[in-house]
Amino acid sequence: MKPKVLLTHQLFPEAIELIKKEAEIEFCSSDHSPSKKEIIQKIKDKQGLLCLLVDTIDQEVIAAGQQLKVIANCAVGYNNIDVEYAHSRGIYVTNTPGVLTETTADLTWALLLAVARRVPEADRFTRAGRFTGWRLDLFLGQEVTGKQLGIIGLGRIGRAVAERAQGFKMKVIYTDPRPLPEEEERKLGVKRVSLDDLLKYSDFVTIHTALTPQTYHLISAREFALMKKEAILINVARGPVVDEKALVEALEKKQIWGAGLDVYEREPLIEEKLLRLDNVVLLPHIGSASRETRLKMALTAAKNLIQGIQGKKPDNLV
Ligand code: GLV
Repeated sequence: MKPKVLLTHQLFPEAIELIKKEAEIEFCSSDHSPSKKEIIQKIKDKQGLLCLLVDTIDQEVIAAGQQLKVIANCAVGYNNIDVEYAHSRGIYVTNTPGVLTETTADLTWALLLAVARRVPEADRFTRAGRFTGWRLDLFLGQEVTGKQLGIIGLGRIGRAVAERAQGFKMKVIYTDPRPLPEEEERKLGVKRVSLDDLLKYSDFVTIHTALTPQTYHLISAREFALMKKEAILINVARGPVVDEKALVEALEKKQIWGAGLDVYEREPLIEEKLLRLDNVVLLPHIGSASRETRLKMALTAAKNLIQGIQGKKPDNLV
């Protein structure tokens, strides 16, 4: 008899096929954020769980999985899982690093350019039939080329963002608890500074750090006060790294020039006031959302799941 696994959501058919060969699959009933109660009920006789970043896999859920061997998250971030508790129960936890690095770096630039050059606002204006002719002062934005970029968290995605910055002839500074080897810093053209200096000197600040107790509200009122008035903040990492209420205030008071967000503090809820501000561009957590990458993520998660239920050490342990 094949081992049983629980999938909280539908996956691409290619990934389902892969899992079906090795396991008996049960899905949660709704494809939209299943309830914790349902996951707890269905996980009881399962050896593997494949979940998304919207599923909260806490102690209560993990404890209900008496036969659980592996929790495969279909995401690179894993702040939705109580990893420590899973490990204390001898359960593998896996993620999908690597496959989404370039895609997420691309979206970071899409957001940065969209805010700097006011692309969504100009699009709304044009669609509203308000384009009545070329004007010297129409939708003046911020120059990007040659400016100072500050990267918070120089992991895989942060580095891919830095590589792209070279094309824009930008000067790049970064902050990270682990410095890059000097040789790599030289190759990437980046220099490590303190967070405060990064905030003070950057024209663009982009966040690529994981959400941990140390990075929760890393950017709040004090940090906004340090930033330049012309600065733009980009967050494609995790919402709670930024204090969303403090961000609203900084944008309203024009303490900073603009922001681009792909993630939110209480996803999918968004601070009501953000929705009414023109100097912020809002995306629905689509950092890794290219067809190719999302398929690779699903296949990676499926493979990790299979390895885990077969008692092999999965490729992508966290
Ligand atoms: C997306 O946010 C991810 O963590 O993969």
